[in-house]
Amino acid sequence: MKRIGVITSGGDAPGMNAAIRAVVRAAIGRGVSVVGFTHGYEGIIDDEAMPLDSVSVGGIISRGGTMLRSARSKTFMTEDGRDRAVGVLRKHGLEGLVVIGGDGSLRGALCLHDEFGFPVMGVPGSIDNDISGTDFSIGFDTAVNAALEAIDRVRDTAYSHERIFVIEVMGRHNGFIALEAGLAGGAEAILIPEVPYSLMEICTDMKRAAVRGKKSSIIIVAEGAARASDIKDFIEKNTGFEARQLVLGHMQRGGSPTAFDRVLALRLGALAANRLISGYTAEMVGVDGVKLVSHPLSYVLSTERAIDPEKLLLAGVMAQ
Ligand code: F6P
Repeated sequence: MKRIGVITSGGDAPGMNAAIRAVVRAAIGRGVSVVGFTHGYEGIIDDEAMPLDSVSVGGIISRGGTMLRSARSKTFMTEDGRDRAVGVLRKHGLEGLVVIGGDGSLRGALCLHDEFGFPVMGVPGSIDNDISGTDFSIGFDTAVNAALEAIDRVRDTAYSHERIFVIEVMGRHNGFIALEAGLAGGAEAILIPEVPYSLMEICTDMKRAAVRGKKSSIIIVAEGAARASDIKDFIEKNTGFEARQLVLGHMQRGGSPTAFDRVLALRLGALAANRLISGYTAEMVGVDGVKLVSHPLSYVLSTERAIDPEKLLLAGVMAQ
């Protein structure tokens, strides 16, 4: 292989820059040049090519977001869009593509392989951490820490004013951020889409806690489980306690990546480039504990990543 491409696609995640840097420098180390495309698959279709060398990826390791920008491409979901994308990749003499992104982006990579035989390698980049085949996806740790900082700050004021706070974190379809940040922040309740909950029971618990003298609580809700405003209204109506809501939103996706995310991204980016250059294709790199692994994309995309039951149990015990 002489030339490979790289994109970041879907929701951005802190650490994507470190992953781009690793792809580029690992490839250059093997005598392979790299072309980036801005705006993910959309940028490939529109031929937004950007040659990348060691210097162009300098100074980005500490930056959140992605220097290549990102997008969710509707055109790429059409057959014609994918045809055009492969045409552009071939026009640039590219022999493989590294795709850094979440579930939808990895599905796109698999299409390129299955429909055109184009060599691809996936790198899991998503704050949601909902991708199978890896214990961690790039950006999750930073997002959890951003949410945690907000929770810690809110706890101070919740205590002072003896209020209930409902904090909504990201996670459309899953509660990985909610569970991790909730555990670390000592939340009194964690509501996630994967597990049914009773708001009435939560209200009863809070009333009992108030009798014992505990008059402030933090409830963490994943956006896919309920809206913070609805939970807040329900609590006020059914307990008579004063409550406030806070939606953390996109602040969880920005900011400088943690050391954990940077090192994870460097390891995964370098592994992806090396495997692609060595002739492997249609895989996603990941970590299993501290070990680097690589799994077929078809396996990764057909397996659902489950919430850790031990952590769920722990959350219940700690909330008592
Ligand atoms: O997948 C990452 C994520 O941040 C989800 O947690 C969230 O639901 C979604 O993206 C938000 O998407 P957008 O940036 O398009 O509003």
